[in-house]
Amino acid sequence: MPAKSMEDLVSLCKRRGFIFQGSEIYGGVKGIYDFGPLGIELKKNLRDAWWGAMVYERDDVEGIECALLYNRLVWKYSGHEDTFSDPLVECKKCHTRMRQDKMKDQSKCDNCGSTDLTEPRKFMLMMKTNIGPVDDGSSFAYLPAETAQGTFINYKNVVDSTSRKIPFGIAQMNQSFRNEITPRNFLFRTRQFEQAEMQFFVEPGTDEQWYDKWKEARKEWWKEQGLSEENMRFEPHPENDLAHYAKAAGDIEYKFPHGFDELEGIHNRQDFDLGSHTKAQADFDIQANVMKNTDSNMKLNYLDPQTNKSYIPFVIEVAAGLNRGIIAVLNEAYTEEDLGDGKSRLVLKLKKHLSPIKAAVIPLARNNEEIVEKAKAMKTRLQKLGLGRILFENSGNIGKAYRRHDEVGTPLCFTVDFDTLEDGTITVRDRDTMEQIRIKEDEVEQYLINYLKG
Ligand code: GAP
Repeated sequence: MPAKSMEDLVSLCKRRGFIFQGSEIYGGVKGIYDFGPLGIELKKNLRDAWWGAMVYERDDVEGIECALLYNRLVWKYSGHEDTFSDPLVECKKCHTRMRQDKMKDQSKCDNCGSTDLTEPRKFMLMMKTNIGPVDDGSSFAYLPAETAQGTFINYKNVVDSTSRKIPFGIAQMNQSFRNEITPRNFLFRTRQFEQAEMQFFVEPGTDEQWYDKWKEARKEWWKEQGLSEENMRFEPHPENDLAHYAKAAGDIEYKFPHGFDELEGIHNRQDFDLGSHTKAQADFDIQANVMKNTDSNMKLNYLDPQTNKSYIPFVIEVAAGLNRGIIAVLNEAYTEEDLGDGKSRLVLKLKKHLSPIKAAVIPLARNNEEIVEKAKAMKTRLQKLGLGRILFENSGNIGKAYRRHDEVGTPLCFTVDFDTLEDGTITVRDRDTMEQIRIKEDEVEQYLINYLKG
């Protein structure tokens, strides 16, 4: 049973330390969020799951991480400088600025209902910064609007340093920035967000087949993160509304609290980017008079060692938003349970590999030194297993501690009590079933390993 509204998620995230409004003590910045103690763990776990599935479990994908500042020409030749904009209209009465294609009714202001609106104009989504000490308007750089361009400009470096043969992919997770006109729906549309993108380089002619394969693989991966089939769908982009680089594209959509919307894009980018950067380098070299080599327009070509055929690879891109992924998994896990007798509980039924805290170790009596010391030592032993964060929970009332860990999705609680001192057993409490069993305290490590790895 997912959350009833985005407000449910916003409130849980703030209350339990997942996500905070950016610069909150100064009134916040619209469309900017910070990750709190549990949010960063959840994000790390989702990142690790993506990286594991994309890089470690496959034999045809390499990972990279680019700097965030690029030569400005990258964004010129990628097409972003000219085309990466949204249509902006402004209400002449209340001065609200709106993205025209997202308005409820394009003839009326979303805020005050006035029909006195400006003509739409192109609003550039890329953000700018300055590199170096001179700020004369010419030394600016763009903050990345997608991770993909960093991957394209390193394509040759990866091929040369790894001897990869086509088909193969390059994966990257990194921050992206877009000056969204109307950031909204919590983490859904923000001005800074993390993307998890993989560009898969294929021989032209095999691209449609790879597009279908990746579409299926990505849906499966989201299911493994806990998203249910009925809350996901694939929506192809209409042919007349494709991005400047795409031959085919579609979105894996998830049913967020505000309705079905894009979670991940799957794009057939053809040879648009490698082709454009190749051509640009040739022009650039000639203009700069640094290289008159006619081979320069072959720079990003791939030479097939078996057939000796040379071509610019086509690219199938899978582009997920990690922040949207976080709201999707939180939403899916959010469960309000009726316990009877007028009692209820909120429990976050996250997949155990995503849980921010893997287990809590709780001393039943805060004032009993022997119990507290045993619990502390157990936390240290469990932490050393390297399975993720283990929390020593010494905040008092056991019932409240269980409820708190239900709410943040901790799958197991280990309680050290008076019986532990007598017979060396501890209580294990399961988040989902609330069942409690006793195990021997010296078996706790193996129990946790079996539980998390099983
Ligand atoms: N390289 C291709 C690319 O960037 P995109 O569809 O514009 O494609 C990919 O972005 C994903 O990034 C989206 O599916 C979404 O999950 C995420 N994303 C895009 N804009 C976002 C925003 N303003 N806030 C949060 N996530 C965003």
